[in-house]
Parts: sequence; C-alpha cells; structure tokens
Amino acid sequence: MPTALTINGIAHLVDLPSDVPLLWVLRDEIGLTGTKFGCGVAACGACTVHIDGEAVRSCQVALADVWGAVTTIEGLGTPDNMAVIQQAWVDHQVAQCGYCQSGQIMNAAALLAQTPAPTDQDIDDAMQGNLCRCGTYPRIRAAIKDAAQRIQEA
Ligand code: FES
Ligand code: FES
Repeated sequence: MPTALTINGIAHLVDLPSDVPLLWVLRDEIGLTGTKFGCGVAACGACTVHIDGEAVRSCQVALADVWGAVTTIEGLGTPDNMAVIQQAWVDHQVAQCGYCQSGQIMNAAALLAQTPAPTDQDIDDAMQGNLCRCGTYPRIRAAIKDAAQRIQEA
C-alpha cells in the first residue's frame, strides 16, 4: 500500500518498500536531488532534511518511520525567494565544492528555529555532525551568526 508523504508542502503517494530510506525516496522517487548522499551511516550530515522542523539524517529514516511533514533544501527557499539562512550563506560565500552545504543549511536552519541567538558553543554543538571536506567551518559559523542577527532584526 502506498505511503502518504507531505514534502515541501506537496502531498505524495509513494509506492516503495517500507524500509527504503527517506533519502532514496527524495532523490530517486521524487527527484529532489538537493539532498545529498554522503556516507549512508549517519556520519556526515549531507542528507539532512527536516521532519516537522526537526533536523534528521534522511539516510537513517525508513519510509515507514517518517512521522511528519518533510522539508528539503528545495522547500526552504528558492533562488528568487531565499530563506534568510540561504541569503547569509550566499553573502558569506560559504560553499566551496558545495556537496555538504544543503545538509549544513538544513541543520543550521533547525538550530536557529530552536536557538535564535546561538553562541559559538551552541553552533559547534549543533553542527559537529555535519562534516565538510573543504573545511568551510569558519564561514558556516559566520553565516549562522549573521542569519541569527538578521532574523532578530527583522
Ligand atoms: S548520508 Fe546520511 S549522514 Fe551521511
Ligand atoms: S563545501 Fe565541499 S564538502 Fe563542504
């Protein structure tokens, strides 16, 4: 029996085995390839999406276990209407190769939703599971702080 999912505000019926990871559903079934496969074992954060606003590793969530509305990087904002966090990423030129960055942004967005004025320690604690082979960590931290300030001043 197909599984009903809401992804970026759109209802989908997914006819796949219940143990298929959400990451595969998003990329191969729905065609949302902004969410990346990195390790497949919850060790890199490249596959981070939100379920009901909570940052999760989509490689580790089976289709049957998706408990709420899914948001991917494509649902956070668009090139013409970027989320504040995405604009901060652009302004700070955070990305290098870019592969890890959708996961970084989704994790950072969840952090700011929970902790609107994060300290360096809050950022380090929240982001430590999101790896970046290009070493963009200083720019990630700066962009998160900038986004926090912009959100508070809005
Ligand atoms: S691909 Fe999911 S944590 Fe690495
Ligand atoms: S920007 Fe290249 S892995 Fe993070």
